[in-house]
Parts: sequence; C-alpha cells; structure tokens
Amino acid sequence: MSKIVLGVAGGIAAFKAAELLRLFTEAGHEVRVVPTEASLQFVGAATWEALSGQPVHTGVFADVPQVPHVRLGQEADLVVVAPATADLLARAAHGLAGDLLTSTLLTARCPVVLAPAMHTEMWEHPATQANVETLRSRGTVVIEPAVGRLTGADSGKGRLPDPTAIHAVCLQVLDGRPQDLTGRHVVVSAGGTREYLDPVRFLGNRSSGRMGQALAEAAVARGARVTLVAANVSLPAPAGADVVRVVTTEELRTAMHEHAVDADAVVMAAAPADFRPASRAGAKIKKVPGQGPAPIELVENPDVLAELVAGRTGKRPVIVGFAAETGDENASVMEHAAAKLARKGCDLLVVNDVSGDKVFGHDDTEAVVLGADGTQVPVPHGPKAGLAHAVWDAVAHRME
Ligand code: CTP
Repeated sequence: MSKIVLGVAGGIAAFKAAELLRLFTEAGHEVRVVPTEASLQFVGAATWEALSGQPVHTGVFADVPQVPHVRLGQEADLVVVAPATADLLARAAHGLAGDLLTSTLLTARCPVVLAPAMHTEMWEHPATQANVETLRSRGTVVIEPAVGRLTGADSGKGRLPDPTAIHAVCLQVLDGRPQDLTGRHVVVSAGGTREYLDPVRFLGNRSSGRMGQALAEAAVARGARVTLVAANVSLPAPAGADVVRVVTTEELRTAMHEHAVDADAVVMAAAPADFRPASRAGAKIKKVPGQGPAPIELVENPDVLAELVAGRTGKRPVIVGFAAETGDENASVMEHAAAKLARKGCDLLVVNDVSGDKVFGHDDTEAVVLGADGTQVPVPHGPKAGLAHAVWDAVAHRME
C-alpha cells in the first residue's frame, strides 16, 4: 500500500479525478486529495472527503498543528496532479508555494506525475511549453494531454487522458522505474497493417498492438515524449503518448519517417505486411457463380525498418526491430535472429520465438533482446510491460 497525494487543479476535467481516486483506493492505496481553491468551483470538498475518507484542505493554514504543507509531501510515495492546469504548471515550474498543493509539490521527495488538461492554445503557448520543459528537466513526469473534444464544441490537444491510462502511468512510476528517458523523443510503431483488395477486404495479420502499447506506456513512465504510430490497434490510447493512426504499410512508412526526424529512439514493434495486392479494386469484388476465385497478384512493400536505418543522419536515433522467429532445419531461432539483425542494420532486435502460438494477442510474452554488439538479454515469461522496460533499459544504455 502506498501513500498517494492526488492534487486537483481548477479545470473542467476535475470530475475525472474522482475515477482516478477510485482506482487508487480500490487497489488499497491511501489517498489524500489536495484540491486547489479554484478546483472547488468544479468539484466540492465533500466529494473528495467522502471518496477518500480523508480530510480535505486547500490552504496552508488549516490543521496547522499537523503541519500538512510539509508533512503531506514528505510522507507521500507519489504525488499526482490531475488535471494540472496551465496555472498550476506555471506555479510548480517556478516553485511557488501559496497553497497546500504547491507547497506539497515543493516538499515532495517522491516521484511526481502531472497530467495537464487545458485548451490547445494554452498548452501550445511557449510559456506553458517552457514550464513543461523545466519540470521534465527536474524529473517530473508530465503526461502529454490527449487529443479530442475540449470543453466547448472545439477539439484539439488538451484533454485529460482517460483516468485508467493515468493510473497505468502512476503504477509504473510507483514501481520505481528510472526517469532515464526524460527529455527524449521516442517513436514506437504498433499493430498490424492492412492491405486492401477492395473497399471491404484486406490482407492483415494477428498483431494486436499490445507490445507497442506497453512500450509507449513504459516510455511515458520513464519521462519520454512518445509518438505511437498505431496500425489498426483497437486498444485505448495510452496516456501521454501522441497517437498517429495508420492503416496500410505505406501510411505507416510515411508516419514513421515524419516523426523519426527528431527522435532519439525508434522502435518498430508493428507488423507491417511484407506484401500488398498489386491493385486495389474501387468496388467490391463480386463472386461470379461457377468461376473460381481470381488469383491475387502481390507486390512487395518497403521495409520501413531498413529504410529508417539507412536514412538516419545527425541525431542518429537508437533503432530497435522486432523479429518473430521459428527455428527450422537450417538454423535455430537465435541464428535466424542474428542474421536478421545484421541484414536490417538496427542496434537492437527483440526476438520472439513464435513457434506454438506463444505471442500474438496475449498479455504475457518472453523474448531475447539481442544487441548489434553481440549482447543477449533474455527476458523471462511475464507481462509485456516487463519486456518493454527491458527494451528501454537497453535503449537508454545506448543513448548514453
Ligand atoms: N518491418 C518493417 N517493414 C516491413 C516489414 C517488417 O519495418 N515491411 C519491421 C518490423 O516492424 C519488425 C521487423 O521489421 O521490426 C521484422 O522484420 P521482418 O523481416 O519482417 O521479419 P519477420 O516478419 O519477423 O519475418 P521474415 O523474416 O519472415 O520476414
């Protein structure tokens, strides 16, 4: 059980913090809610007291004998602020301590997670971006806001991510993951591409996107700015990742090249189709009674991973590929993998042994993280989050 301080700043998304609070309390954590005075315009103190079973104050002059403005931060295992407004980010970045929440942020020696929510213009303003950069440079985890409907009819970047997604980031931070990707931009691909034969039929594969999702969540929890290029992934967007949705290998290729430009690391966890139909019919292909199926002519898709390796210049991101291998009469799984690593020219290859339906669609996995320098790190069977962190361990090591 951990002691968590849940800060709530004055934004319309304050009500979503109630669900986050529930997720923490149901997992057995002790939560003290510290709202700002402004946030009480949106959700009253009675709600927080009832849901947390703890007293709720906004200022530093309540309950003075307990010195809560010092004690709360000192004793916490995690401080999370959701939503964090532009004003709260500014005050936190400049070390102001005019209320209980900002005092707690100054006295906290535990990890701090901020989940901003505001209008797009406020988020994109150079002042806010500079504050976010300052906070991140000090090791604070600032989750990227989600894109979607905002307070009014407008939509854009600035939504508070789903509470379950914020909760997932907090759990990883509580797990003591290092903040070694702070200030880094990482690009991860996930899922399986679809290559259309006609408007309704496609050639696809069984990749669910769970591995890419785990990689994105783990990188957010380690402080990175994350772009997730998701090919036909039906999972909810991970908190704090910018999600770019694609369908075909060609779209995935374009998105990867665009976002890899300023990346420090690129991880190709997606399964792009190696081949696509030579042409895509504009109308649904009809079945003609008595005639057998028409043959499908395929052409080769570009190898995105190999292109990214060939095209890297300047910043030279660490590039990671995935390999789904089976051993055969010619070579073992690891021999095939070593040959693939050399062929693709990437820095790391995550090798999955897929004989016997071991990987696709499951929450658990096992793999070997193979380095171009010959290192082999076996990751035993377990949740994909564990493998994700082993990959980032290897990536962070190579970034240094
Ligand atoms: N990859 C890619 N572009 C493709 C195909 C694959 O970037 N058109 C990437 C995948 O994202 C993965 C790695 O390359 O990181 C997998 O390599 P690939 O050669 O496709 O191997 P497998 O599909 O595992 O198997 P095979 O050797 O049979 O091709």
